Amino acid sequence: MLNRKDLLGTFDLSKEEILSIIELAEQYSFDNKNNVSNSKVLSNITQINLFFENSTRTQVSFEIAGTKLGANVVNFPLNNSSQSKGETLLDLASTLNSMFPDLLVIRHPNSGAAQLISEKVKCSVINAGDGNHEHPTQALLDAQTIRKRLGKVSGLQIAICGDIAHSRVARSNIFCLKTLGNSIRLIGPKTLIPSGIEDFGVAVTHNMFDGLQDADVVMVLRLQKERMGGGFLASEREYFHYYGLDEKKMKHTKPNAIIMHPGPMNRGVEIDGDLADDLNRSVITEQVEVGLAIRMAVLDLLTRKHPLRKKCQE
Ligand code: CP
Repeated sequence: MLNRKDLLGTFDLSKEEILSIIELAEQYSFDNKNNVSNSKVLSNITQINLFFENSTRTQVSFEIAGTKLGANVVNFPLNNSSQSKGETLLDLASTLNSMFPDLLVIRHPNSGAAQLISEKVKCSVINAGDGNHEHPTQALLDAQTIRKRLGKVSGLQIAICGDIAHSRVARSNIFCLKTLGNSIRLIGPKTLIPSGIEDFGVAVTHNMFDGLQDADVVMVLRLQKERMGGGFLASEREYFHYYGLDEKKMKHTKPNAIIMHPGPMNRGVEIDGDLADDLNRSVITEQVEVGLAIRMAVLDLLTRKHPLRKKCQE
């Protein structure tokens, strides 16, 4: 059960809440594979998707998740909206609130935007990624993917590699995977690891060979150039040499270690293309599949007490 109005991050999710989302998502994964219909779950519920930043995986999977559950899904047409005429985010929230949506899914380039909207609207808000702050459904789908592939998601050594400084995925994964009882090592150049991040209870190293030692899970992050305001790296070629995941570096992990990447992926920059395609070790496509089920579970759990759902079941 999720006893909350919104899902804004993983920082305040309890272990029980995380496990309840993952367990329901496992059911939805099974149903999706076996053509079991769940099209009555969100009948009468209106879901608006508001994406102020580009997205492939998150936007499409939230749209399919809502549709599979029978919600009325509206994709907010940002290019044709009055945002281009200077309307503020809060005025937009107030306008949407007056149309009685039940769920708002928002992605925004500014950290804190999802929380700001959630304080203005009555309906549930789901953060689909805000600046370099949080991306909770990504972390939840990563946790479920690890459990599916390794049979557990606690007591593991997890290496998160690359551009930690600009990554909402790293932050949400740190909170979520720590709560589930895993050890986290962050690996990256000094310029891409925020100072003081050890306070989150993680280990930090700038050497891939040290950081990957005996890892069960290797999570590779993209260089988030769109959030870099200057020269953080000498060159991408040098970055790949020191931090790009390749066979040589993978030799330091446990033999059955899995490779994860939230996507979009830059082959030859943060990961070797052949390694990304190695289905024995790479779970990148599985992450996308699990993402749909996780989003179905979150939409379902956040609206369990909604009066329109009760009406539908009567
Ligand atoms: N991982 C992720 O958030 O991908 P998109 O930007 O394509 O949604």
